[in-house]
Amino acid sequence: MQRVTATATAAVAAVFLLTSRATAHGGALNYTVGDTWYPGYDPYGPPTQLTSPSIPQRKWITTNPIFEATNASLACNAPGTPVLALIPVPAGSNLTAVYYSWVHTVGPMLVWMTPCPSPGCSTFIPNATTPWFKIAERGLLSGTVVDGMWFQHEFSNWDGSPSLWSERIPGALASGEYLVRHEIVSLHSANRPQWYVECVQVRVEGGEVGGVRVPGEEYLARIPGVWSMDGEWHGVGLRGGMS
Ligand SMILES: *[C@@H]1O[C@H](CO)[C@@H](O)[C@H](O)[C@H]1NC(C)=O
Ligand SMILES: *[C@@H]1O[C@H](CO)[C@@H](O)[C@H](O)[C@H]1NC(C)=O
Ligand SMILES: *[C@@H]1O[C@H](CO)[C@@H](O)[C@H](O)[C@H]1NC(C)=O
Ligand SMILES: *[C@@H]1O[C@H](CO)[C@@H](O)[C@H](O)[C@H]1NC(C)=O
Repeated sequence: MQRVTATATAAVAAVFLLTSRATAHGGALNYTVGDTWYPGYDPYGPPTQLTSPSIPQRKWITTNPIFEATNASLACNAPGTPVLALIPVPAGSNLTAVYYSWVHTVGPMLVWMTPCPSPGCSTFIPNATTPWFKIAERGLLSGTVVDGMWFQHEFSNWDGSPSLWSERIPGALASGEYLVRHEIVSLHSANRPQWYVECVQVRVEGGEVGGVRVPGEEYLARIPGVWSMDGEWHGVGLRGGMS
């Protein structure tokens, strides 16, 4: 685990980037653990998905981004309704989010978790006090914010094949139910950051005895609240988290 070494407040607005007219948006459409695939919630599919015994991703209704740093839907997209299924993930193993035709190239990608309080994820709605901790962050690989090579760029495939984003679920967690929140922030439009967020319900299994459900306050952030719209871009300075 790493301590948070800087405030988890980041600002996104005062970056002047080329405006792109790309309208093809997206999000995490499937998940894998090992060789097992789990279906996402199809935003354009039938409402019966909400009660499916096999769909672990929370409901979202559009692949369009969220534009406001203070939007409550930043937590789990809109409407973020709980579902019934969970992905079983052994503590310390990888969960992979699958994106198709990802077209954006600038800005960080982060993964967050929070425990689902009793009785579990199927009734849990995150709110302003929910303790989110970051388990992964992928930012600039080289160069500068505007001209550099971001992980998001490397992640984009241009041939329609799936882009796989694999991150390790911390081995130090206690077993139990958690939300995993994948977040891509796209900064290609000047002064108009785009947030792409989806939540999936997981059951961490075989966690450490005496492992933590929530790390200490120094690891925690509230969502919304972790981003702000003014000042300089410090996205890659959003440090700390739990690994
Ligand atoms: C991926 O998720 C979609 C719904 O978003 C589903 O229709 C499809 O069957 C899933 N694919 C796999 C391989 O699980
Ligand atoms: C929050 O984002 C959702 C989804 O994009 C949108 O429908 C809603 O209008 C936004 N709310 C506010 C207060 O901006
Ligand atoms: C926020 O969520 C927690 C956990 O579900 C709950 O205990 C608490 O009452 C909620 N707070 C508000 C203000 O709704
Ligand atoms: C598991 O995730 C880590 C990042 O946490 C990554 O470096 C590694 O390549 C992933 N392993 C696999 C098999 O994808």
